[in-house]
Amino acid sequence: MHQPAITGTGVFTPSQVITNAELVTAFNAHADLYNIENADEISAGRLEAKGHSSAEFILAASGIEQRHVLDKSGVLDPAVMHPWLRERTYDEPSQMAEMAVDACRQALAMAGKTAADVGAVICAASNHERAYPAIAIEIQDLLGIQGFAFDMNVACSSATFGIQAAADMIRSGSINSALVVSPEICSAHLEWRDRDCHFIFGDVCTAILIERADDANGAHFLIRSTRCATQFSNNIRNNNGFLRRTRKGQMADRRDMQFMQNGRRVFKEVLPLVSNHIADHLAAENLSPDALKRLWLHQANKTMNDYIGKKTLGRDPEPGEQPNILQDYANTSSAGSIIAFSKYSNDLQPGDIGLICSFGAGYSVGSVIVERA
Ligand code: COA
Repeated sequence: MHQPAITGTGVFTPSQVITNAELVTAFNAHADLYNIENADEISAGRLEAKGHSSAEFILAASGIEQRHVLDKSGVLDPAVMHPWLRERTYDEPSQMAEMAVDACRQALAMAGKTAADVGAVICAASNHERAYPAIAIEIQDLLGIQGFAFDMNVACSSATFGIQAAADMIRSGSINSALVVSPEICSAHLEWRDRDCHFIFGDVCTAILIERADDANGAHFLIRSTRCATQFSNNIRNNNGFLRRTRKGQMADRRDMQFMQNGRRVFKEVLPLVSNHIADHLAAENLSPDALKRLWLHQANKTMNDYIGKKTLGRDPEPGEQPNILQDYANTSSAGSIIAFSKYSNDLQPGDIGLICSFGAGYSVGSVIVERA
């Protein structure tokens, strides 16, 4: 068995930013427009008027201050309320592949490696922009990587499940190395017209290079162990899919064709699931919570992270022990914990142990215990 290690990470961050104040101004203009357009239905009691959103609510409920997006012009247009992305020809990189190549190149540069050193590409994300050919194969082609590539989707847990798949293949010897890349264009599946969730998501792409530890050129993190778990729930759901046109009325602009969640229930059900998952993972590795120097958690909600950090460590985490990036990026689905890892891991010392954990729709939860080599 070979020892897998994380040798490089990369983060592609879109240059455009939407602050809570900008978002709320656009949403409120949209709500006013909607209420005027539907005045008759609303006064007859057949439709509910849309209430205003508030930047104070967003910060207090989520901890989010801003989000990066590929296009803010459409999102902030009260008559549009979704991003506009240019259609690509077959000769151009697709949108997801383009961001992925940027993040992968950063990960390769950090590890001091080239495409020739990589054996596989896993594009692990919550959405893929087409059914086939796999986005991962296009990324593989654009980077000039031999071997194989495939897409996988476990929603917010895609990256950690991808790390487990890559690490297991490296352990068993079927590959020497893999890029796990997570281009998350959450702005395209978020319902910006729904006050309950319009503030939740942002766009980003992360990449992780995993190699045999023996092949590492520089500082790296040994992957000591991984653990993945799933439990079916409808509380986070998106009904968009390839059977859409086979069902009457589904081609319409329907609410359930975007991200939907029962936020309160997610909160209540996911917290114990994740806390118990982490405790079991640590126990299986004979590690006490005191052994953890850092927690890089999924970046959905500050209160959730505060709770999980406290439950895991048995005390309030010290500043820096459990870094959040959600205030700057919002929820970036599977990429969130990897952004936190990428930005806040370099100071760890040889022998230091940390845990990456993501969780979300499915429900799904994935944890990765790493040790600085
Ligand atoms: N502005 C102002 N008020 C708002 C609002 C907004 N943008 N959105 C909702 N409200 C109102 C609600 O209508 C409700 O009013 P009411 O009490 O009169 O009914 C009140 O604020 C509370 O709303 P609620 O949805 O219960 O808020 P919350 O405290 O549960 O926070 C979330 C909402 C989404 C931040 C929270 O539930 C959450 O983070 N859940 C888990 C999310 C998650 O991790 N999902 C995973 C996705 S991968």
